Amino acid sequence: MKVSLFGAGYVGLSFAASLAEAGHEVLCADADLARIEGLQRGLMPLHEPDLEALVAAGLAAGTLRFTADERAACLHGEVIFIVVNTPADAEGRVDLRHVMAVAAGIGRHRDRDAVVVCKSTAPVGTADQVEMVLNGELSQRGARLRVAVAANPEFLREGSAVRDCRRPDRVVIGSENPWAVEVLTRLYAPFVENPAQLLVMDRRSAELAKYAANAMLATRISFMNEMARVAEHAGADIEMVRRAIGADRRIGPDFLQAGAGYGGSCLAKDVRALKRMAERDGYPLRILTAVEATNHEQKGRLFELMTHHFEGRIAGKTIAVWGLAFKPDTDDMRDAPSLVLLERLRAAGARVQVYDPVAMSTARDLVGEHEGVRWCGAADEALQGADALALVTEWPEFSRPDFARIAQVLRSPAIFDGRNLYEAATVEAAGIAYYGIGRGRSLLR
Ligand SMILES: NC(=O)c1ccc[n+]([C@@H]2O[C@H](COP(=O)([O-])OP(=O)(O)OC[C@H]3O[C@@H](n4cnc5c(N)ncnc54)[C@H](O)[C@@H]3O)[C@@H](O)[C@H]2O)c1
Repeated sequence: MKVSLFGAGYVGLSFAASLAEAGHEVLCADADLARIEGLQRGLMPLHEPDLEALVAAGLAAGTLRFTADERAACLHGEVIFIVVNTPADAEGRVDLRHVMAVAAGIGRHRDRDAVVVCKSTAPVGTADQVEMVLNGELSQRGARLRVAVAANPEFLREGSAVRDCRRPDRVVIGSENPWAVEVLTRLYAPFVENPAQLLVMDRRSAELAKYAANAMLATRISFMNEMARVAEHAGADIEMVRRAIGADRRIGPDFLQAGAGYGGSCLAKDVRALKRMAERDGYPLRILTAVEATNHEQKGRLFELMTHHFEGRIAGKTIAVWGLAFKPDTDDMRDAPSLVLLERLRAAGARVQVYDPVAMSTARDLVGEHEGVRWCGAADEALQGADALALVTEWPEFSRPDFARIAQVLRSPAIFDGRNLYEAATVEAAGIAYYGIGRGRSLLR
């Protein structure tokens, strides 16, 4: 099938390349000309495992093309996906300008029937608005086309976006239009092993399902971070608690990791947006208010542990920070807990020596150059001359460090493990103080 996509970001690019791999003829548009020019030459604007090879294969086969020409993208596909960014401000107001700009463009340029699909995460009712904007443009120029607008939220995870596109847990199609449902069912056929994975529903339910999913994930994380606090005071180990409850089939093992707080481009913004949606309808979401508050506190947890260790004397200390991205296998720094740690340490007069396997340049763009921040080219370099080490992102390359060497290099050997990646006993056996999240044993010492 001929498919157009607007938005060559983490989602759009992964989805476009996966559609091309499945044999569809894909034209992917982005408003960022430099991004498109790079992609046309096979240069990746972001880090996502397996994506570079998939894009290269699509370009070589001619099934994947990139354009900055809005009109060309509006004319190419019988299905047109809107996969642009939908940021939310601090109050949860979602900026739909990019979505509506694409909808208006389709209305201005389209000359044949089309199924338009809103894949961006956007508040309930956005597909209705897209339809209105699009039809407004069509009627203004007297164009008589059949255009169906569907909602098709995306559930992929950064860091495994390609895998998730190739093998989604489920595909949610929000449309009551049989033609749109038939077209999207055909489009997704190569990705759906079992018909039960294809969930067809009305647009509003599909839109809400995306927010509800992210709210649930955020809730699980904040719940476990609260349990971690309990564990710290009770002298229990949250890792043991996690295993015990994760083995319960009613609960399941995923998203039960206590840590330095959730980050990324989606959870925080989607929780804010959902809260605002409900508040506007006169129904404040109390659970999510607590989820946000817990996460806010949790992002400051590593700093609190450091304050405890250094007995409040953080000024003048140098902290090595391993990992900056909000999770491994991505260079995405949006809302990353590392940003809060860096900010607190700098405000307290500490220096930081930071290293991340792939997020150095996105982090540098966000944080900027400061006297107290040294950008290091390797994990070992970050340790040189540091007092202590903070582990913020659980990249595989940090999982088995040489603790004996760390003990030698650090001036005041201590590890603040924001992802509970290490075993306290192993670290302590090397002569290093260990602080994890919710590992009461080490705090109560
Ligand atoms: N990142 C994730 O893990 C994830 C997962 C599921 C859903 N989502 C949702 O998917 C959407 C896209 O997220 P993302 O992380 O890929 O965003 P992103 O910021 O990485 O990419 C968005 C792209 O859209 C482009 N764009 C903006 N306006 C445009 C226009 N008018 N025409 C063409 N291109 C335009 C931008 O230049 C950018 O390259 C968001 O609504 C997000 O909430 C994201």
